[in-house]
Amino acid sequence: MQTDIGLVSTVVARSSLSFIDGEKGVLEYVGYDIDDLARNSTFEETTFLLWHQRLPSHSELADFTARVQSNYDLSDAMWDMIVSLPRDASPMHALRTLTSALALEDPNADDPSEEANERKSLAMLAKMPALIAGFDRHRKGLDLVRPDTSSSIAESFLYMLTGEKPTQRMARAMDICLILHADHGFNASTFASLVTISTLSDMYSAVTTAIGTLKGPLHGGANQGVMFMLQEIDGIENAESFIMDKLTRKDKVMGFGHRVYKSVDPRATYLKTFAEGIAQDTGNIDLFNISKRIEEIMDREVGAKGIYPNVDFYSATTYFSLGLDLDLFTPLFAMSRVSGWTAHCLEYLEDNRLIRPRCDYVGPHAKEYVDISQR
Ligand code: CMC
Repeated sequence: MQTDIGLVSTVVARSSLSFIDGEKGVLEYVGYDIDDLARNSTFEETTFLLWHQRLPSHSELADFTARVQSNYDLSDAMWDMIVSLPRDASPMHALRTLTSALALEDPNADDPSEEANERKSLAMLAKMPALIAGFDRHRKGLDLVRPDTSSSIAESFLYMLTGEKPTQRMARAMDICLILHADHGFNASTFASLVTISTLSDMYSAVTTAIGTLKGPLHGGANQGVMFMLQEIDGIENAESFIMDKLTRKDKVMGFGHRVYKSVDPRATYLKTFAEGIAQDTGNIDLFNISKRIEEIMDREVGAKGIYPNVDFYSATTYFSLGLDLDLFTPLFAMSRVSGWTAHCLEYLEDNRLIRPRCDYVGPHAKEYVDISQR
């Protein structure tokens, strides 16, 4: 039996959802290039694509969007639960708890049928924006804002968060970020959701598992880390010494490197252009310029090792420019990735096999038990 620490080179299942060529920097969802989708699709359409493995017709998309919108709102019990949470809790802990709580009011939470699983996926996709925005307003002592059931997920989310209708450009920026983060093969959180669903547990548990996994700074938590770094650098003239210091100490520079991409992360390419536009619009161009400078230094120092900006690097500037608090960056990643997590669970369940790897035992053998009084 082979030992593969970190599952770096083990293929655990087949999937038709996202194709990644890490050497060439290609990402496709069901055969469609990510750049094409980011430019032309919407998050709702991209989710339909991932769940059904084809693009919807006009009427299918209209029906799907209407179903999602009709699921935006939360029950009174869920709104009450949001305002009962400690105000100083981290939004990722709050999101994990609230997503898990959605199962409590679903009488069919354990129904394993495909239809029920899709319904639960849709419920989580539709309600997560209200969970995140609701908690953010609660912790700031603001009145909660109910979703706008006539608008897109991106638009309704920004509306619930700020209490104001976002501009079209802001809503589109949010929509693009949601598309770009929707799926990415068997990343750690998706794999975690598959481990859970493979035991024939339920969709709520699978997504709750995934949220906990996404939270780590080596995964979804990196975009927040990027922003902390940009704020710490505090001026383009400090970028060189800051980064060189980090590299000398062998610290990881947040927003760089990827387990799969050894060339440019294709999600970062489009985001970079977009981040520049939105940073310019919102008076945050200095932040963008520091990011660009960091990219140049990293390219010079570690580019040859295949370490380039990943999706988190420029999404940090984009989210900041949209006015989002730093600790909402990772919840937003979850709000998007729920589409991919559930798509993979639905796909895996078509031919389920319990995921249960082995470990290479390296401990002692044949030890004699010593009574506690003798130790
Ligand atoms: N800054 C500086 N050096 C780096 C970085 C970095 N961000 N990433 C990798 N390296 C170096 C690392 O020090 C090592 O060097 P050496 O061979 O000299 O010891 C080499 O590159 C290989 O690194 P690794 O940690 O073994 O690579 P990995 O495939 O296990 O890790 C990673 C991938 C994403 C965990 C890592 O690159 C990292 O920690 N990056 C910073 C955190 C980050 O931005 N995470 C978001 C990932 S993208 C979002 C997602 O898809 O979840």
